[in-house]
Amino acid sequence: MLLPTIEKPQGRNVFEAILARRTVRAYAPDKISKNAIQTLLEAAVRAPTAMHEEPWAFVVVQNRQILRQLSDRAKPIFIEEMRHRNAQGVRHSFEHFARPDFDMFHGANALIIICAKPASPFVVADCWLAAENLILAACELGLGSCVIGSVVSVLNIHMVKTELGIPAAYTVIAPIVVGLPMGETEATSRKEPLILSWKQ
Ligand SMILES: Cc1cc2nc3c(=O)[nH]c(=O)nc-3n(C[C@H](O)[C@H](O)[C@H](O)COP(=O)(O)O)c2cc1C
Repeated sequence: MLLPTIEKPQGRNVFEAILARRTVRAYAPDKISKNAIQTLLEAAVRAPTAMHEEPWAFVVVQNRQILRQLSDRAKPIFIEEMRHRNAQGVRHSFEHFARPDFDMFHGANALIIICAKPASPFVVADCWLAAENLILAACELGLGSCVIGSVVSVLNIHMVKTELGIPAAYTVIAPIVVGLPMGETEATSRKEPLILSWKQ
């Protein structure tokens, strides 16, 4: 089925949106409309896709109780993963994850999970490109977003996938929370692009 043209919000150009995007970790309790989520998904599926496979599929969770439970199940798994990585020499601080009140989803009311049925070797790239489209579209709609890589492992547990309606053949690639930002978020810094070579 062909998608209708996304209604163009009156707003920024792409570069302005790229600069305005922030990872938001504080959300207002407001629920996002179905229409807004639909727009984000439409933006996501317009990403480039290797061999035009369009391997993505989406799960939307807008239930705080489910998110709370997922967060609680994800924490010990993620802490263990971080311990393992730290033992291998990668230094990450993860104390705050152990706090009972710490919410892996930062209080957001909506989690969008981008999944894929692994087919070509480019499936993961396709899904992350879709993720960036979704994130920039969210920014354009005045919504904040945060990639929650720390819950990928828990979301790929067979039982959790079943509970969320994700068929066994699908793999969770990119979980992203979206919501109305609470307060302002400062832009983070970036290093200059490291150009290894530029032959002319
Ligand atoms: C693959 C990936 C996984 C991430 N996982 C998490 C996460 O689990 N929790 C979180 O709060 N932020 C997560 N982030 C957000 C990064 O921490 C954030 O992008 C980085 O600190 C730079 O900040 P900025 O996006 O505001 O520029 C993740 C980002 C990416 C790309």
